[in-house]
Amino acid sequence: MIRTRLTARYHLTHPILSAPMALASGGALAAAVSRAGGLGFIGGAYGDAAWIMRAFQEAGGARVGCGFITWKLAETPELLTRVLERRPAALFLSFGDPAPFADQIATAGVPLICQVQTLRDAQHAADVGADVIVAQGAEAGGHGEKRATMTLVPEVADWLAVHAPDVLLLAAGGIADGRGLAASLMLGADGVLVGSRLWASTESLAHPEMVKAAIAATGDDTIRSTVMDVARGLNWPARYTARVLKNAFTDRWHDDPGGLLRLAETEAARWSAAWEAGDVEVANTFVGEVAGLIRGCEPAGEIVRAMATEAEALLQGFSGA
Ligand SMILES: Cc1cc2nc3c(=O)[nH]c(=O)nc-3n(C[C@H](O)[C@H](O)[C@H](O)COP(=O)(O)O)c2cc1C
Repeated sequence: MIRTRLTARYHLTHPILSAPMALASGGALAAAVSRAGGLGFIGGAYGDAAWIMRAFQEAGGARVGCGFITWKLAETPELLTRVLERRPAALFLSFGDPAPFADQIATAGVPLICQVQTLRDAQHAADVGADVIVAQGAEAGGHGEKRATMTLVPEVADWLAVHAPDVLLLAAGGIADGRGLAASLMLGADGVLVGSRLWASTESLAHPEMVKAAIAATGDDTIRSTVMDVARGLNWPARYTARVLKNAFTDRWHDDPGGLLRLAETEAARWSAAWEAGDVEVANTFVGEVAGLIRGCEPAGEIVRAMATEAEALLQGFSGA
């Protein structure tokens, strides 16, 4: 077994957390990851209270956490109180300033995990009291920024070692197997946050056609873009883009977001209908560069255990050399 500060502090078997993925990480996925010895997260995302409460029920009493998109939570802060009442294993904030929420989470005695995309935001997260920082590189599926996992993780690790040594660090973005887990530990992380690889699991709520498209794709087939958010009418802050599979929609609009805005009404309706239908040529599949490493859709518990077993063998191989 791989023992790290993360497994010790949160009593985990494996140093693996599943990402709180919008519209994909429901209670079943989160619970499966926790039951396999990692820690699973419900994707509270844009803050649909009924959906989130149902997800907690579906987790069936498993110890799971919940994540929010921070800039969106700021529009309905009362939702945080409702989720904290459910005693989540941890509260995960990403994409925005965690400061307005940090005290309430600390008072509830719930660990705060902040996902960041820059060193500056990691420093800020540590300053406001994050217990765990997730350094997310641009390889990641879904929203993020520009820095690469390979340099962001060790840079944040070095800063934390000097200025906030009790704050744990996770790597995110591009981790799909034991190689990614072992490499992350070598970069100075205490564990990993896995999104796309667990998005392609039997418990995920992702549309099966989208999972099929991701399995068929390579990392070359992804792009970071904003056109999906324009189509959905979501007011994401300009610094964030999202990684998705390229398709006819991104081919047409990626370099012409102004044109998309002019046709927003019809294109939004077309995109949303395609999302419901799993039409991957119009609606974009949210997945990271690890699309090129996803070869099937297995139960989440198997994915977690295989990742840990492979990493352990790799790390032992090096220690014996
Ligand atoms: C389908 C999908 C949806 C996501 N939704 C969210 C979200 O709602 N909130 C969040 O903090 N991160 C979200 N992410 C990003 C993850 O938190 C994580 O950083 C990312 O998946 C890690 O990179 P990987 O996909 O290469 O594993 C999402 C990722 C994917 C693939």
